[in-house]
Amino acid sequence: MATGHTTHDDEALDRELAGLLSVERFDPPAEFRASATLNDPSVYAEADRDWQGWWASQAEKLHWFKKWDQVLDDSNPPFYKWFVGGKLNISYNCVDRHVEAGNGGRVAYHWHGEEGDERDITYADLHRDVQRFANALKDLGIKKGDVVGIYIGMIPEVAVAMLACARIGAVHNVVFGGFSAESVRERMEFSEAKALITVDGAARKGKIAAVKESVDAVMGDLPHLEHIIVVKAKGTECQMKDGRDVWFHEIMERAAPECPAEEMDAEDPLFVLYTSGSTAKPKGILHTTGGYLTGASATHRLVFDVKPESDVYWCCADVGWITGHSYIVYGPLSNGVTSVMWEGAPDYPHKGIWWELVERYKATIFYTAPTAIRACIKWGSEHPGKFDLSSLRLLGTVGEPINPKAWLWYHKVIGGGRCPIVDTWWQTETGAIMITPLPGITSTKPGSATQPFPGISVDVVDEREGKPIDEGQGLLVIKRPWPSMLRTLYKDDDRFVEVYWKKFGKETYLVGDAARRDKDGYYWVIGRIDDVVNVSGHRLSTAEVESAIVACESVAEAAVIGQHDEDTGQAITAFVTLQGDRQGTPEEEDLIRAGVAERIGKFARPKRIIFADDLPKTRSGKIMRRLLRDIAEGRALGDVTTLRDPTVMAALEEKIKAEHAAED
Ligand code: WT7
Repeated sequence: MATGHTTHDDEALDRELAGLLSVERFDPPAEFRASATLNDPSVYAEADRDWQGWWASQAEKLHWFKKWDQVLDDSNPPFYKWFVGGKLNISYNCVDRHVEAGNGGRVAYHWHGEEGDERDITYADLHRDVQRFANALKDLGIKKGDVVGIYIGMIPEVAVAMLACARIGAVHNVVFGGFSAESVRERMEFSEAKALITVDGAARKGKIAAVKESVDAVMGDLPHLEHIIVVKAKGTECQMKDGRDVWFHEIMERAAPECPAEEMDAEDPLFVLYTSGSTAKPKGILHTTGGYLTGASATHRLVFDVKPESDVYWCCADVGWITGHSYIVYGPLSNGVTSVMWEGAPDYPHKGIWWELVERYKATIFYTAPTAIRACIKWGSEHPGKFDLSSLRLLGTVGEPINPKAWLWYHKVIGGGRCPIVDTWWQTETGAIMITPLPGITSTKPGSATQPFPGISVDVVDEREGKPIDEGQGLLVIKRPWPSMLRTLYKDDDRFVEVYWKKFGKETYLVGDAARRDKDGYYWVIGRIDDVVNVSGHRLSTAEVESAIVACESVAEAAVIGQHDEDTGQAITAFVTLQGDRQGTPEEEDLIRAGVAERIGKFARPKRIIFADDLPKTRSGKIMRRLLRDIAEGRALGDVTTLRDPTVMAALEEKIKAEHAAED
């Protein structure tokens, strides 16, 4: 039933939510618990008692051509191997298996385009297209172990492309559609991709971006890149370079229809996904086959309590992020579930489009990010109020800590007070959800991701010695290997060891987040401890943005920090010095933002730019970002004794004062 909220209701709602802030725990509703796949808390103790056995029991739910000889090989930490000797194919598990079980007619994706066009893709459709495309890739000379880039956006062909790679053992490297072509080129170069699959054009809120054209403009002559395969998605004009570029539909037509799934080793690479680290160079997170699918599949089945026959599941992330890999493609397909795939943004063609689609497809499970929930709150509850959301039975969030007020709004307005919320903490590196409620078992506390998933062992430790902190804040670490863990950084084992395994030894994975454990043992993730900024759930490194700014003409130096932001969680603030004696102007600000959009993507543009004559540095010339953070937040400055030139900070303080005066 549509409830038809009005602005007046929003005020009443606000009061109601304020009242709920004092509720400490929300128990799983009795009805939900009764039908939940997991509803007995003893699963935690059981999984702990024999955690390798627990993971093996999850892996057994998949199809293996040959079973493993050893669950875990931990003889060379931190290079762990899972399901050693096992043989499987991920596309077989995600597609063939369901067709063979007689479920080929089940919809895999209800795809909905920005302009209202619809396509229902069944498992049988996927089976047909994936085989053909796998053959087409082979026809182009793509072999097991070759890297294939994918820059497509939210259309069904993206899943076909990923699964076709998995079918023949090619390693996919998906780049989020919001990244610029320049970022795509960089990622193709780092991974020595042999082919890139892209689109002629992509829909962006009513406009069509000429994707192929912008790729052409920067791709140059990458020595390894032999083919660009173009999906005709929008009929956008584009050039096809002879000998390099081919149309997806043409090579599909020519390809043979049958392609048996390759028997892959459990530890064969499945994909590399670039993500931001502490330096300007993104990290190529490498995931392999057996362990990754075990983690993605088990967590999807149990955290979202999916019932393949009846659920309609919708994760509104983008496939270009790990969330899309694990919870739009591999998790849901391996479980034979029906998903919704939405091409566009949450506010186009109108601010209630998500809720319109929930009603239209009778979605039962909905998974999004806190930043999107905050945007919906801002737009007002009249938008969801226009639609029937009674099909929903479970809600999820991911990407950043959720503030209790947003949690309560989600619970009340979207979930009608009856849906459990799973706040899922994890990372590109972990491959699958690590800390989360189990919706039929765990009592939730708004803002806490609650407890580690069965079989996972985490801790909060002190920065210096790595000793556990029972109650209070420290560094989050993971203490046991888990199947879907990253195996290395692509072609950079040294950096892998250095970043994640150096601080506390090769058996303790350093997450990079600060967290707190409360008196009930619940985990509250606070945020990153490194130079990684989380803007709307998009991970960015300050160094990456700095180097994009410094590449702008007339910029001499830049220092970037993350600042708290009501809408996006964190926002980027850039301190910039210009060459010569030039003063920054609004035009100069625009140029810098445009430069960042071109080099990284629009989402990385700094919200606030502060021009300065000089930046605070130590005697050895290191920029003191800590002081910049203090000054940007209007806090008293911390220790300034190592500052080379104290007058720099005084000048900056003047600047910020002037900025505030101009705002008033
Ligand atoms: C970082 C990982 C995993 C998919 C999305 C992001 C933050 C993620 C939560 C959560 C608090 C969270 C952490 C983490 N994060 N989920 N539920 N509560 N923080 O993947 O881009 O690899 O970023 O996102 O800081 O380290 P990612």
